[in-house]
Amino acid sequence: MQIVHTIAQLRQQLGGFKRPAFVPTMGNLHEGHIALVRQARPLGDVTVSSIFVNRLQFAPHEDFDSYPRTLDADARRLEAAGCDVLFAPREKDLYPEPQTFKVHPATDLSDMLEGHFRPGFFIGVSTVVMKLFSCVFAGVPGGVAAFGKKDYQQVMVVRRMVQQFALPIEILAGETQRAEDGLALSSRNSYLTAAERQEAVHLSQALRALGETARAAAGVPDLSALEAQAMQALARRGWKPDYLTVRRRADLMPPHGPLADQPLVVLGAAKLGNTRLIDNLEI
Ligand code: PAF
Repeated sequence: MQIVHTIAQLRQQLGGFKRPAFVPTMGNLHEGHIALVRQARPLGDVTVSSIFVNRLQFAPHEDFDSYPRTLDADARRLEAAGCDVLFAPREKDLYPEPQTFKVHPATDLSDMLEGHFRPGFFIGVSTVVMKLFSCVFAGVPGGVAAFGKKDYQQVMVVRRMVQQFALPIEILAGETQRAEDGLALSSRNSYLTAAERQEAVHLSQALRALGETARAAAGVPDLSALEAQAMQALARRGWKPDYLTVRRRADLMPPHGPLADQPLVVLGAAKLGNTRLIDNLEI
């Protein structure tokens, strides 16, 4: 596996290939990222991953400085998974001058849920993903890029961006990988203390319970009431929930009418101690 740091080096490595399979990451890789690499690899003629902790998607009070940076271990895992090229730009390589042109996703999709609790987050994500896409895919007829479904809204924002800008890039959404007890794998799990790690599984359990209660309710359930109860139950366990909510998979809006046969997803975000976790379940 070649490790490159600059855009010029990356483009040189990719010269001659026609269909990159790309897995963008912020590093501190876990099995979820590696599964994406394995899934994307057969879909392209060269497999590329990036590791870049993108300052633009962090608010000033968030964990940009403490975000785990484990480049050597990550590189070993990527190589073992069959990645051909690792793009690990320093900030000055990707943003040699301040990024003053930015991608602003449509507010209907990006101002709710994560976008509501992390204002500007999807502008930062869309901008860096667009920039990484232009580094990896410029000059090729097309390619594939893989993202994990744990960041459900992020996948939808990226898909919409690709569609709106007519980028010839297929978006692959990989299933969330979970620990044995059901906790969704996340780089931020490493922030949890041993006691918090034991407690952490209750987020996915709360999502499952909310989904089952909503599905089991007859007629048109009062989702706001069910969601409020689910949040209160988590709060009683010591969590600070931002949201637990049942949404339509198509557009992440609240469902109308009877839930039967509507493709739904239950999404949640909550803080446990100092760590903010997110998860979701399609129901
Ligand atoms: O999901 C992530 O790790 C990041 O948001 C991404 C897509 C690599 C952009 O920085």
